[in-house]
Amino acid sequence: MSKQPPDVDAIVAELARNKKYRAIGIAEDTIRDIVLSELARQPNAKAAVQSARKKLHEVVALYLGDPDYDAAEAQLADACATGDPATIRAACAAIMEAHDSTRERLPLLESFYPRLFAVTGVPQTVLDLACGLNPLAIPWMGLPAGARYYAYDLHQRRVDFLNRALALLGAGGAAIFQDILVTPPQESGDVALLLKEIHRMEKRRRGIVLPLLDALEVRWIVLSSPTRSRTGRRAVKEAYREQVHGILAARPWPIIEIEFANELLYCIAKAP
Ligand SMILES: C[S@@+](CC[C@H](N)C(=O)[O-])C[C@H]1O[C@@H](n2cnc3c(N)ncnc32)[C@H](O)[C@@H]1O
Repeated sequence: MSKQPPDVDAIVAELARNKKYRAIGIAEDTIRDIVLSELARQPNAKAAVQSARKKLHEVVALYLGDPDYDAAEAQLADACATGDPATIRAACAAIMEAHDSTRERLPLLESFYPRLFAVTGVPQTVLDLACGLNPLAIPWMGLPAGARYYAYDLHQRRVDFLNRALALLGAGGAAIFQDILVTPPQESGDVALLLKEIHRMEKRRRGIVLPLLDALEVRWIVLSSPTRSRTGRRAVKEAYREQVHGILAARPWPIIEIEFANELLYCIAKAP
């Protein structure tokens, strides 16, 4: 008797029914990609669904934190209405506090982009991949007039907020709701940032990052990894460093590292 093939649409629909994911809006593309990948890896459909559920939890990572987006938008609008750079920065910093990745970077911000752009040059067009709340660091970037900032995330509510934030900050470009591992960015640019996510992406599916890096039409790609685990208890710097260099070993691109207190950057000269 032949075994029934799993009903992928039904599995995707079941996972998409999760209330939390419906509330923030997660692309069906993302769920389908994870389900198909787990069906190919696991011994049966039941194990694949269980594993897909866990992977989705890690990819969406609601535990990293979100601000109250309506309140954040009002706070940023009030700050921008003052026209005072210090007030605008204070509002951006307060909102970035709500997400682990940007909160951890707050103490570094004064030197983070100056040191990074000393290597890459100050970009006219930035692609911020898997951006989280990082576009709120624009007031620290010193981008030239007319610069464009494209920010990609798979969390629809976050992307809606970021579109409003980019307009309030007077930045050109857009926030784009897109799973960049399923559909790489269509936009080209000077610098692509993929900060503190590569080690998590490789957990979704080993080998998933290199095709994305290949597809990027940019001069520089900037990856980063944390140097400490989320709880701060484990030093993970060397393990993540090995992982990044392992992925990049397949390409001839020169790499310049920049180390900060809790984050290690890899500036990759793809086509400088
Ligand atoms: C750990 S946070 C890092 C945020 C930001 N890069 C930073 O360092 O501040 C990961 C973010 O990437 C987004 N994300 C994860 N996988 C993604 C994908 N395949 N495409 C687009 N966004 C993704 C998540 O929704 C989340 O906002």
